[in-house]
Amino acid sequence: MTPRPGRVLISETELRARIAELGAEIGRDHAGEVPVLVGVLQGAFLFMADLIRAVPMDVTTDFIGVASYSVGTRSSGQVRLTSDLSMPIEGRRVVIVEDIVDTGLTLTYLKRTLEARHPATLRVCVLVDKIERRKVEVALDYVGFTIPNVFVVGYGFDHQGLYRNLPHVAALETDGPDPV
Ligand code: PRP
Repeated sequence: MTPRPGRVLISETELRARIAELGAEIGRDHAGEVPVLVGVLQGAFLFMADLIRAVPMDVTTDFIGVASYSVGTRSSGQVRLTSDLSMPIEGRRVVIVEDIVDTGLTLTYLKRTLEARHPATLRVCVLVDKIERRKVEVALDYVGFTIPNVFVVGYGFDHQGLYRNLPHVAALETDGPDPV
């Protein structure tokens, strides 16, 4: 059976409320500065769009793209840059905006890559932490939700490119009939 979005794990209302809190926290921690929020493509684009509107101050934005090298169908754990920032971040206060931390390999790579450019500060904001799956320790400054080890779709999360446009986060489920 084709997997489809099933049980709602994080509703639109819950997303809105928690993102408002995260935006306020980021605002407090960067008072008097203009931080640069760096969205990680593709998954974080919806979160990024809502988060920046919840930060009660001037911000600048940029995006970075990363991908894991695959060995067959499995991720090898090696991460590479597919699209770089559009501007230098030296001396800037940077917040990486990521949709999910799973093994932690992507964020570890991103933090190392951006630290090498000498930002004034580098913090990490993630919408969803799948902590059970962690392979490498990585410090997170702002966490929206901690979820169990289930495959999620919606609100930026995809399965084979689909379902990013759902307004909530749902579990991908295989039981139930296929749509006709
Ligand atoms: C997801 C997510 C993170 C990464 C986290 O990206 O957006 O970048 O995996 O996994 P990790 O902690 O195990 O490294 P994905 O490869 O699904 O790409 P996408 O954002 O374009 O959907």
